Amino acid sequence: MNGHRTVALIVAAGRGERSGSALPKQFASVAGRPMVAHSHAALAGHAAVDAVVVVTGTDQFHAVQVAVGPVQCVAGGATRRQSVLAGLESIAAAGGADRVLIHDAARPFLPTQVIDRLLGALDSASGAVPVLAVADTVARCGGALGDVVPRDGLVRVQTPQAFIFSEILAAHRGWSGDAEPTDDAQMLRAAGGMVAPVTGDTMLEKVTYPDDFAAAEARAAARYRVR
Ligand code: CTP
Ligand code: MG
Repeated sequence: MNGHRTVALIVAAGRGERSGSALPKQFASVAGRPMVAHSHAALAGHAAVDAVVVVTGTDQFHAVQVAVGPVQCVAGGATRRQSVLAGLESIAAAGGADRVLIHDAARPFLPTQVIDRLLGALDSASGAVPVLAVADTVARCGGALGDVVPRDGLVRVQTPQAFIFSEILAAHRGWSGDAEPTDDAQMLRAAGGMVAPVTGDTMLEKVTYPDDFAAAEARAAARYRVR
């Protein structure tokens, strides 16, 4: 059966073009620290996580080390998929792992219970993802409003995503899809793997657009207020 060497991979090689920030958003300060430092602390501090690797631009290795302290950095690629693959290959080259947690630096607040649920789900699946139900009406829209997509059974998929290392590595190496995938679970599924959903958390919302910074601050203030 699977052993339990677990490595966390944080992807932080994006440019944050939609965020409107000149600084790549993973280095923007939220709740008093650069975003990447929050998720690094949550992963590095989890009892089941043996090592953390940060994927970022080679010109940003120093900024990552300043933000989080000594950590292994790996050069990212032009797309998220390529950045994850670079991180997986570096883990493989260093002897591999049994399980990997792949996380977006742009989701700074990572509750420890979500990590627990994800790793627990790997006992009976090749992958596990945090999901939240869709609350709004969902519709197609191209100029005029189009058809409503029934939201029953639809979920929003977050990160971190947990995988049996050998299976997600094989899925990445074998990827031949046309469109760039936006997460890793869809790659495992394309390779025939089974992905288990676990309950996600609103703390894990991604910072994507300018307004999301203030929303992240507000979530942090509400959750982490010390009295
Ligand atoms: N990411 C990465 N390498 C890339 C692109 C994205 O490591 N070539 C990372 C980002 O740093 C982020 C995560 O993937 O932590 C999710 O991507 P996204 O929210 O799209 O971030 P950006 O690509 O930086 O933002 P944008 O698409 O607005 O430019
Ligand atoms: Mg992007």
